[in-house]
Amino acid sequence: MSPAGAAAQNAAVAQPETADTVIFEGGKPLVGEVSVRGAKNLVTKAMVAALLADTPSTLKGVPAISDVAVVRGLLEAHAVTVTEDVDGELVLDPRGVKSAHFAEIDAHAGSSRIPILFCGPLLHQLGEAFIPDLGGCRIGDRPINFHLDALRAFGAELEKSYEGIRLKAPQRLVGAKVDLPYPSVGATEQVLLTAVRAKGVTELTNAAIEPEIIDLIAILQKMGAIIVVEPNRTIVIEGVESLQGYDHRAIADRNEAASWAAAALATRGDIYVRGAKQQDLMTFLNVYRKVGGLFDIDDEGIRFRHPGGAINPVVIETDVHPGFMTDWQQPMVVALTQAEGRSIVHETVYENRFGFTDALVQMGANIEVYKEGIASITRRVPRRPLEQAAVITGPTPLHGANIRVPDLRGGFSHVIAAVTAQGRSEVSNIGIISRGYEHLLQKLDGLGVSFELGA
Ligand code: EPU
Repeated sequence: MSPAGAAAQNAAVAQPETADTVIFEGGKPLVGEVSVRGAKNLVTKAMVAALLADTPSTLKGVPAISDVAVVRGLLEAHAVTVTEDVDGELVLDPRGVKSAHFAEIDAHAGSSRIPILFCGPLLHQLGEAFIPDLGGCRIGDRPINFHLDALRAFGAELEKSYEGIRLKAPQRLVGAKVDLPYPSVGATEQVLLTAVRAKGVTELTNAAIEPEIIDLIAILQKMGAIIVVEPNRTIVIEGVESLQGYDHRAIADRNEAASWAAAALATRGDIYVRGAKQQDLMTFLNVYRKVGGLFDIDDEGIRFRHPGGAINPVVIETDVHPGFMTDWQQPMVVALTQAEGRSIVHETVYENRFGFTDALVQMGANIEVYKEGIASITRRVPRRPLEQAAVITGPTPLHGANIRVPDLRGGFSHVIAAVTAQGRSEVSNIGIISRGYEHLLQKLDGLGVSFELGA
């Protein structure tokens, strides 16, 4: 790297949070090591769980991502004290909790969907809650009907207005039978966070059982909850009167680990992901192996690398756990543009999660998106009405382009595409990626990527 290039990199690394556009010079394998800390999709929920307690909680392994900042802001708006004396270790003290003005909640909610999970804990603590219009990645309609139906089943009263939804619990919420129409991650968390302090027993059927949910259950058990995970997606919760604070290290971020694994494959690289856990990535690892990617597992993490030579096409169906996660498909699609032959990705969880492929096509990839999905007798995951499919035919060399990040996972995929592509790519709106990937530019720098900050 030239001294000027190094200086530009250092400048970019020094202020990644402010960078909205980054210019990448691609075409080199990513080689080196990255670390992953706590999972975004657990940490943010664990922070909400702290609201249920009478005493402070300590959460370890918290990544420096903007979704954590959003939840922190919302907790602080409700007079929960949040301190971080040690990097990545939050102490959350809910003893002063009180209602917040809706304008303040709205201002803090940002683009996150987490506010909806505040409902149960706030109804228990204060008898009322408010949720503004929800954000989150634009990857489909993302309705909240399962959440609202569950809250009603517990006895919450809901009133919709132009500002959002106001909820009241005139008396203590009561345990309920909740059967989810789909094993939704968020709705399962909603039920858990509400049922643990409701009066009586809650039986949740068709629950999501993602590792992050099991980790949330572990946290709630530490707090004093009684939760039984039964076979067939059934969870039984015996409500208790009160809960205490927890001390917990968050499960590692398997989505970030899978993203770096895909980056190693796409760029013909070799990345050791410190903190990656085999148990939570088994389905991903099977697909990685079928594609021809190599991995070595040790006690501290997993080394992911390209085998040299050609990699293989594959058929993927995204699904709820233990299926292939929807959050893994976008980075893998970039790697599949380099496979010899035709791959198919059936996206069954969200109805609009291939928007990011437009940019890959612009960069030279051969990807066709089927908006109605593709039926096939070899399919294992039941077809959903809104699913889509992408057919990726490779290998196609990628070339640099000016592209705009659409959402979190799609955005990481754009970055992988930019570093895979020969030449210069200007990637704008890159700040979104900090919602779920900490220190992105520092990590890329450590893996040998050449880049500089744009305007
Ligand atoms: N759904 C409904 N009604 C509801 C809730 C969900 O119809 O009330 C549908 C959704 O539209 C979707 C399906 O159920 O088709 C699954 O949604 P789910 O509720 O499981 O997703 P979520 O809880 O909103 C979490 C993660 C997502 C991850 C999904 C699936 C968080 C903050 N988000 O979303 O993560 O893709 O589970 O595992 O935990 C990401 O990290 O980039 C991300 C989008």
